[in-house]
Amino acid sequence: MSQRIQFARTGGSEVLELVDVTPAEPGQGEVRVANKAVGLNFIDIYFRTGLYPAPSMPSGLGTEGAGVVDAVGEGVTHIQVGDRVAYAQGPLGAYSELHTLPAAKVVKLPDFVDFETAAASMLKGLTVQYLLRQTYELQGGETILFHAAAGGVGSIACQWAKSLGVKLIGTVSSQEKADLAMANGAWATINYSEENVVDRVRELTNGDMCDVVYDSVGKDTWEMSLDCLKPRGLMVSFGNASGPVDGVNIGILNQKGALYVTRPSLNGYADTRERLEKMCEEFFAMIESGKVKIDIANRYPLAEAGKAQDALQSRKTTGSTILLP
Ligand SMILES: NC(=O)c1ccc[n+]([C@@H]2O[C@H](COP(=O)([O-])OP(=O)(O)OC[C@H]3O[C@@H](n4cnc5c(N)ncnc54)[C@H](OP(=O)(O)O)[C@@H]3O)[C@@H](O)[C@H]2O)c1
Repeated sequence: MSQRIQFARTGGSEVLELVDVTPAEPGQGEVRVANKAVGLNFIDIYFRTGLYPAPSMPSGLGTEGAGVVDAVGEGVTHIQVGDRVAYAQGPLGAYSELHTLPAAKVVKLPDFVDFETAAASMLKGLTVQYLLRQTYELQGGETILFHAAAGGVGSIACQWAKSLGVKLIGTVSSQEKADLAMANGAWATINYSEENVVDRVRELTNGDMCDVVYDSVGKDTWEMSLDCLKPRGLMVSFGNASGPVDGVNIGILNQKGALYVTRPSLNGYADTRERLEKMCEEFFAMIESGKVKIDIANRYPLAEAGKAQDALQSRKTTGSTILLP
């Protein structure tokens, strides 16, 4: 038997329960990982609350973890029993001692990346990789607005943008978070719970506004984010921390300056093993060089996953949170 967190109905963190299960044997093309550390991400809350529907119920939760391969199914050639590995994509069920998933979603960890760092950063780091290097290929010299700059994804984005020579203006909800974003390399911060973001962006950029806005807050910031863009700028809407953006009239993009908009996801970029490995190579190199350091600010036992989610959802966390099986 092994333990996992599951939920049989959607709702608050009280729906999460720790249960004993018989771990699935890996089938064709699958591997089973004995997790040493599990990543906590906002997407886990979207599944728990039902914003994103789980494929079946009761459902496991979590898509990110790191550990040692303890069983390999038929047809798997690039991963062996005993390999140190990490993963950041579905199926749901990473909140567990043993997780079985497609081998194509699993990468070997280089020696310089420990399990906790991998679990704390793989999903968030690969997200920053595609956001800054693929969705818009930043060259250096651009000015960008990045919401929730002291969070898990935001902390990595501040450091990566700095290393590219990009001026990242980070939004945050407190002075403590502003200090953290600045320490991570943000060029400026705006407290969006107190300041007028559009006015501050205008001031900071001498009226030029931003080349790209990265918005994971969603509902609360959508329209203000569009107002922070230059003509023909790119709006990257990549999350729903405050609720999903809906009911958009496409004409608003014309009214606000012939803007571009995209709604990307990690699965949309790391959609083949080759692409996943290429993105990992670049992300791991950022860790190895020291240009990106992973701040594991919060650790919880696996059994306290609900408590960890409550802290993330109520904006109490900074950096990354991991769960320890
Ligand atoms: N599309 C993708 O591929 C992808 C991949 C990874 C993550 N994401 C998205 O990126 C975002 C960050 O993920 P994360 O796991 O690193 O979380 P996080 O940034 O550590 O936590 C979310 C942060 O969002 C801010 N926020 C603003 N309004 C909020 C609200 N109403 N409720 C809760 N938080 C609010 C808070 O920062 P302040 O207190 O400073 O406002 C909070 O700390 C999430 O929206 C997530 O869904 C998307």
